[in-house]
Amino acid sequence: MNEIIDLLRSHRTIRRFTAQAVDDRLISEIVRCGQAAPTSSNIQATTVIQVRDPRKRRRIAEIAGGQSQVADAGAFLVFCADLHRARIACEMEGGTFAGGMTEHFIVATVDVALAAQNCAVAAESLGLGICYIGAVRNDPQAVADLLDLPESVYPVFGMCLGYPDQAPEVKPRLPLSVVLKADAYRDPDDLEGIRRYDLQLREYYRTRTGGQKDSTWSAEMKALVGKESRPHMRSFLARRGFTME
Ligand SMILES: Cc1cc2nc3c(=O)[nH]c(=O)nc-3n(C[C@H](O)[C@H](O)[C@H](O)COP(=O)(O)O)c2cc1C
Repeated sequence: MNEIIDLLRSHRTIRRFTAQAVDDRLISEIVRCGQAAPTSSNIQATTVIQVRDPRKRRRIAEIAGGQSQVADAGAFLVFCADLHRARIACEMEGGTFAGGMTEHFIVATVDVALAAQNCAVAAESLGLGICYIGAVRNDPQAVADLLDLPESVYPVFGMCLGYPDQAPEVKPRLPLSVVLKADAYRDPDDLEGIRRYDLQLREYYRTRTGGQKDSTWSAEMKALVGKESRPHMRSFLARRGFTME
């Protein structure tokens, strides 16, 4: 249709990178593109920390369950949801910070996701590959300590960027009919769509891994939402000041 749509639809996560560093000017341009994303009430609640220190990179790779791309990628960014800056401005104007509001937490987290995805698209348009690292939340306190994050700031995810050393197939998505509804949430055909997608994804994994990975979307969802997930997040966020009032 056009180049932007082609770029968006050719996205795939890259987990193996060449040793080539990413030029600082590219990182600046990419983060500027992140800043250009829409932002709730212009709050601009995203802070990006580029982690350059190899020791810190190795430590975060460890926290992320041994994901070596965190240490090896040409660049690694941690995207933080930041209400600290808004608080400073509020208090500068003589206001009192209404800490702990759930709405503020949502606003800040959504802001980060929008900014990060702009960065991802910008990076891909420059020939770089990216890998989000949600696994920084395996031990978010350790990451917050490592990066000296103040109160009202939390690490939402990391992002590896670099020159791809692999060319994986684009991962198929659920059928559009499952995701796009008209006027109301109706799902009588969703089960059939999910079953079809399960077969498609199984085939994708088999091809991609030479038969080593045999899984479906439904099996992955069972593993994901069929048990507790990072239950430490609630108390961690409360300690950061996100008490969800
Ligand atoms: C917020 C977020 C966190 C993620 N965390 C990780 C991660 O820690 N490690 C990883 O290898 N991939 C991670 N991913 C990548 C997803 O696994 C990947 O986007 C998904 O399987 C779809 O594949 P694709 O990006 O190749 O289309 C993450 C993606 C998002 C959006």
